[in-house]
Order: sequence, then structure tokens, then C-alpha cells
Amino acid sequence: MRRYSIASIPGDGIGREVVPAAIEVLTAAAAKCGFVLEFRHFDWSCQTYLKTGKMMPDDGLDRLRDHDAVFLGAVGFPGVPDHISLWGLLLPIRREFEQYVNLRPVRLLPGIASPLRDKAPGDIDFWVVRENSEGEYSQIGGRTGTGENEIVVQQAIFTRRGTDRILRYAFDFARRSGRRHVTSATKSNGLYHSMPFWDERFAAIGAEYPDVAADQYHVDILAARFVMSPERFNVVVGSNLFGDILSDLGPGITGTIAVAPSANLNPERRFPSMFEPVHGSAPDIAGQGIANPIGQIWSGAMMLEHLGEDEAAALVMRALEASLIAPDIDRTPDLGGNGTTAGFAEAIRTKLLGF
Ligand code: NAI
Ligand code: MG
Repeated sequence: MRRYSIASIPGDGIGREVVPAAIEVLTAAAAKCGFVLEFRHFDWSCQTYLKTGKMMPDDGLDRLRDHDAVFLGAVGFPGVPDHISLWGLLLPIRREFEQYVNLRPVRLLPGIASPLRDKAPGDIDFWVVRENSEGEYSQIGGRTGTGENEIVVQQAIFTRRGTDRILRYAFDFARRSGRRHVTSATKSNGLYHSMPFWDERFAAIGAEYPDVAADQYHVDILAARFVMSPERFNVVVGSNLFGDILSDLGPGITGTIAVAPSANLNPERRFPSMFEPVHGSAPDIAGQGIANPIGQIWSGAMMLEHLGEDEAAALVMRALEASLIAPDIDRTPDLGGNGTTAGFAEAIRTKLLGF
């Protein structure tokens, strides 16, 4: 029997609701496909921080290291500043485990209305590949001076190694997925050093993939194109900051961030990769049991695919899509229903078991 050890970190807010719901669905898929997911739970969160002064214990990363994957809910809650929760848990995992790829599908699901008029499933279907380890998000810089004389410096770091590996991942992914077209997000008309370098490397790496079409846009007009003509995209690659923004805009045009998944990948598999929904801890609805579990479940499907369990991943997606168009299933309030997190997930599980 194939077994996988998964570190589960529900985290904060609705993470504590959608993670257990998603685990039910994933466990059912595993049983149906003849393998076992062994979840080990880690109660690391803002509550942990308020009690111990740390988001995770000092040896936290070592405890995660030997798992096949990390399944994360959401991190961040009022009472703890976001930069503390982010730099105390999420970013150390992404960086220490060299999860330098953040991969997000942007796909309009059946049964969900796009805020873009006249768009149907099939019209919006592409991937955003975001650089996840360097670029604009760095701790290098500082503040000096006071009052009118205050000066703030925030440095961006683009290494040749970090740039080339994310670009290469995008081209490899485009080739592998049969979507042989990569679009690069740039801003070489505004950022004097980093983006001309990014463009140079994009051209150089692209030349190694003559079978994959390549084009590039400045990130401002690219954002407009996401809204005006999302059909034109297949794989979009961007630096940490640009990718961050585009990978929320993408799910935004597909109706709701509550259903969007993401993967933080260490493609070389030296370390576990981490799978989490795009949404946060949603303090405004936390504790009510009404959070939409789909983003978490879809993240789980990406995890199954990463583990090589393609059949189970496809089964989860089929069940999820079927549940979204089933008239008798009560969806969560964000999708216009009166359903609960547990009830909605249970309906998806039942669909899956029925296939
Ligand atoms: P959020 O994604 O938590 O919530 C934004 C809005 O979407 C809220 O109105 C919320 O109710 C709704 N929403 C989100 N997920 C939903 C779901 N599954 N079902 C139904 N409605 C849903 O973003 P916000 O409010 O900006 O951030 C709240 C906290 O979460 C902050 O501390 C933030 O730092 C953290 N956060 C953590 C992320 C992570 O762990 N990767 C990502 C984004 C935010
Ligand atoms: Mg973001």
C-alpha cells in the first residue's frame, strides 16, 4: 500500500474549518485509489504566538522536513501583526524548503459566475507561475533620519540562479502541460536594473525552448489584459511582487478567491512542497462554519498530483465540479447558498464515492 505522510497546519481562522473538511475528501479519494494519506497535525498559529511568542517552535522546520508534503490552511489573525505571522511561519517554510515556485491555476469552474460579462468555463483557463523566494520581498533595507528627513530603503534581490530557475520552470511547465505559450510580466520601463535583467534572462531561457511561444507585457497593461482578454493566456510568469498581485487578480476574474488553490513547490523534491488556498483566515466569518472549502480541497488535489496520484487528483476535481452544478447541493453563502463548510465538503465526498 502506498503511504504518504502529510504535515497539516490548519493555522488561523477559517483555516481550522476548511482543513479538516478537505482532509475528509482527500482521505476518501485516497481510499478509493488504494493509497493512504497519513496526516500529522501541527497547531501553529497566531494563538501559538500569543501564548509562546513564536509562530512555530525553534525546531519547527526540522519537524516538517521529513514529510511528503505540507497542507496549510491560512495564517494571520487580528491581534498579531501580519508581518509577524508571515515572517514567523509561512515565509520561513517557503524559503528554507526552497519552494521557489508558487503555482496557481486560474480557471473558471462550472457553476460559478465570473465578474467578467459573458465569460463561460473554458474562456478563462491559464496558470500563473510566481517567483516565490527572492525579488522584491526581501528583508534588506532600512530606515534612517527623522521627520521631514526620514529615508526608507527597501531592496529587491534578483539573482541569476533564482531568475533562471523560475523562468525555466515556466517553460518546462508550458511544455509538460501542452500549453506551449509563456507570457512574462515585466516593468523594464520603470524598474531600471531588475526588469531589464529579467527580460534578458527571459529571452535567453526562452531560446532554449523553440517549441514554446514567448511574449511579454509590462505588468500594468498585463493586468488590464487579464480582465479584457483572459483567453489569450496559457502560462504567465512573474517576479515575486508582480506574481503575487497577478495571482490574486487571476482568481478574482474567476469569481471568488474562496475557491482558488495554490502550490509552493520545490521542483527538485529535496524538501516537501506546501499546498494552501489563496484566501486568508477570513476573520469576518471565522468560527461560523460557513467558509467555502473548495480552495482548500482544490489545493489538496494539486497536492495529490504532486505526489504522483493523478487519478485521485482527477477524481477530486470531478467531484468538486459536479457538486458545483448539482441543483440539490447547498453551497456556502459566498456562492449564494445557505450551506455549511462541513455539509458542502460532505456533499463533495459523497459525489466522489459515487463515481
Ligand atoms: P481573506 O482571504 O482572509 O478574506 C477576504 C474576504 O474573502 C473576506 O471577506 C472573507 O470572508 C472572504 N473569504 C475568504 N476565504 C473565504 C472562504 N473560503 N469562504 C468564504 N469567504 C471567504 O483576506 P484578508 O481579510 O485580507 O486577510 C485576513 C488574514 O488572513 C490576514 O491576517 C492576512 O494576513 C491573512 N492572509 C493569509 C494568507 C495565507 O495564509 N497565505 C493569504 C491572505 C491573507
Ligand atoms: Mg497574495
